[in-house]
Amino acid sequence: MTTYSRRAFLAGAAAAFTLPKGAIAQTAPRMHVFKDPNCGCCSAWIAILEQDGFRITTEARTSAALVEEKVRRGIPASMASCHTADMDGYVIEGHVPAADIRKLLAERPDAIGLAVPGMPYGSPGMGPEHQREAYDVHLIRRDGTTEVFTRYKAAA
Ligand code: CU
Ligand code: CU
Repeated sequence: MTTYSRRAFLAGAAAAFTLPKGAIAQTAPRMHVFKDPNCGCCSAWIAILEQDGFRITTEARTSAALVEEKVRRGIPASMASCHTADMDGYVIEGHVPAADIRKLLAERPDAIGLAVPGMPYGSPGMGPEHQREAYDVHLIRRDGTTEVFTRYKAAA
């Protein structure tokens, strides 16, 4: 290794450890959430995802406009919850755990997105996980049918 290339290598290595904040942020998953501004559980879910490294922007919608948003995106009424989010071409409906969103982004199925219908107790943002009731995360296919993506058992 010549002095020059060694120095270049070291500079490169140093740069890798001193990435500006913006560079790291670009690798963080970005999400845009439509929600009722008065919805507390929506904010609790957002805070949990932010702690998990997601970068989130929000947009206020009246509950009537939220319903329109869901219909327009092809979310079946049976899959509806409080908030609706855009994530890299997918829709994330309701209190979907971060792990499922990451799995969706890794597997990239041809689908509309993920939903946790209703607001199950103990799902992220809906109360303590150790008191969780059983719930499923559903994958919404393009034809509007769904399949279970992840099954969460009730906390013992
Ligand atoms: Cu909610
Ligand atoms: Cu919500």
